[in-house]
Amino acid sequence: MKNVVVLSGAGMSAESGLKTFRDSDGLWEGYDVMEVASYDGWMKNPELVNSFYNDRRSQLSIVEPNAGHFAIKDLEEAYNTTVITQNVDDLHERAGSKNIIHLHGELTKLRSSKNNDLYEIGYQKLKYGSLCPKGGLLRPHIVWFGELVPMMERAVEMVKSAHILIVVGTSLEVYPAASLIDFVQTNTEIYLIDPNRHQDMESNKLTVIKNTAAKALPQLVNRLINLCNH
Ligand code: APR
Repeated sequence: MKNVVVLSGAGMSAESGLKTFRDSDGLWEGYDVMEVASYDGWMKNPELVNSFYNDRRSQLSIVEPNAGHFAIKDLEEAYNTTVITQNVDDLHERAGSKNIIHLHGELTKLRSSKNNDLYEIGYQKLKYGSLCPKGGLLRPHIVWFGELVPMMERAVEMVKSAHILIVVGTSLEVYPAASLIDFVQTNTEIYLIDPNRHQDMESNKLTVIKNTAAKALPQLVNRLINLCNH
């Protein structure tokens, strides 16, 4: 089986009802991204940051995966499929995808500030100041601006082994995630799905699809599965 790697960003979940970051003047759900999604923001006002992620969790409990998430799951019929997502939602999981690398953490988990142990919280609220059983302060399991991206190394490895790379719903403005696209082999086919950006990107093996995730992915996946069956 060939390897397909999907790199997804906030646009992947837009049609499920979750807002993107950079489609709204750098404001996200009425907040300045740097105040609620950076390590400095957490140090400055942890209660605000905590309550922001409590709201994100409760919002996540009422949205559903869209046709794009389900199409990516269907790729597994014909390809070794790995999803590398910048999203902290669990919509790829809920659509059934098996191999998922969360570059920027997961809303449904908490992390101990003491030793990085992870704890499930699901869609519940975290009371700021709560401690893990070993006494560490619990924080959202989110990779904030100003922090290392521990899953990057594994993601690079997967991209290097990709025969096909599908990049969907990301502005490719945030590093190191945006650099992943540079690690493909020269003969890797790249599909870039975005209704608003990247139309001027050109390269030999690159196809830019100006459409949304929920519309473009079912068609592309159908085509890729058919190619495999012939
Ligand atoms: N389908 C596909 N793409 C879409 C859709 C859609 N329905 N709607 C919007 N988009 C595109 C936008 O045109 C934009 O290029 O999705 C992209 C979203 O870009 P960003 O908001 O910058 O999101 P992302 O690239 O995931 O951001 C990266 O920034 O703040 C951090 O940690 C956060 O993981 C996030 C990172």
